[in-house]
Amino acid sequence: MYNSKIKGLGYYVPDNVVTNDDLSKLMDTNDEWIQERTGIKERRHVVRGTDTTTSMGVKAAKIALERAEIDKDDIDFIVFATLSPDYYFPGPGVLVQRELGIKTVGALDVRNQCSGFVYAVSVADQYIKSGMYKNVLVIGSELHSHGLDMTTRGRAVSVIFGDGAGAAVLTREDDTSKGVLSSHLHSEGQHAEELSLIAPGMGKRWVTDILDEKDSEDVSYFPYMNGQFVFKNAVVRFSEVIMEGLQKNELTPGDIDMLIPHQANLRISQFVQKKFGLSDDQVFNNIMSYGNTTAASIPIALTEAWEAGKVKAGDLVVLAAFGSGFTWGSIIIRW
Ligand code: UT7
Repeated sequence: MYNSKIKGLGYYVPDNVVTNDDLSKLMDTNDEWIQERTGIKERRHVVRGTDTTTSMGVKAAKIALERAEIDKDDIDFIVFATLSPDYYFPGPGVLVQRELGIKTVGALDVRNQCSGFVYAVSVADQYIKSGMYKNVLVIGSELHSHGLDMTTRGRAVSVIFGDGAGAAVLTREDDTSKGVLSSHLHSEGQHAEELSLIAPGMGKRWVTDILDEKDSEDVSYFPYMNGQFVFKNAVVRFSEVIMEGLQKNELTPGDIDMLIPHQANLRISQFVQKKFGLSDDQVFNNIMSYGNTTAASIPIALTEAWEAGKVKAGDLVVLAAFGSGFTWGSIIIRW
């Protein structure tokens, strides 16, 4: 029996900074509303023709591989989490395999939105724990900006999301008291449409419907979020799934050295921080700078925390996410 551990981390965000004031030139919004409700000051948007979800993932992965000191030829499997793939199909996993020149290993695409990275790490961990693979490359990457409704109609969603990518190289750890101790995944499809992008799809809104109708009032191809409902569920599920992970390992909130919550809303992170009685040093947030980057938010935040020396050997690190699906999960790591 083995554990997996994160051996290398990397992130990449596009250079183009978009402030709240920049957005207020496109829609009826303002810096005060955005900061007060979400904590966000600015986010990054890809300039058309520069990056894609895959290219950002590749850039983050290269840094993670270098830091892990693992050659691309030693990667046994790729897991790529995103809700904004370059193509309808194939998914970005194979594009990363191509771009990085990795040999013909398996490439899996994970579609779990804000929980994508937690799901992806859990999958990688199971493959490593079972002994099937030794080194797995996990990527979370999103290019939201060009799929958002940048008019006042879409302001409740479009001010929140940003672009970026994060990556982790997971490798086999023989000492089972170290590395990923456990992962905890949940879903509640009853609320699938409360945070969703309906079209294009082969369900309610077919691709051909959109092409035929050219209906400017049709918002089904923009993300929709029932903000308050999602918020209420988020605070409950974040708390539950962190507690579930701690209890599974006979730990208490006081044992947490670093909580990396998915960066959905600073108010959600602060609620969770208060609920568990954690200090500012025990919770890492960077939503102020990047907005909500969905599947990329945890690996970007984890990398920044690690780079700042806030994640050290022996620390108990907790990753937790909640999002569209609804899906949610946590990962408990002894670093
Ligand atoms: O990452 C996946 C999980 N995501 C989350 O967990 C997000 C959860 N939800 C949230 O973070 C919050 O619900 C939001 C930040 C999305 C919205 O904050 P809120 O405090 O729930 O605001 P609201 O939707 O209730 O809207 C309040 C008011 C409305 O105006 P009226 O009806 O009171 O006149 C909105 O029209 O704010 C208005 N509004 C805005 N005003 C300025 C909505 N968006 C904006 C905006 N700028 N961008």
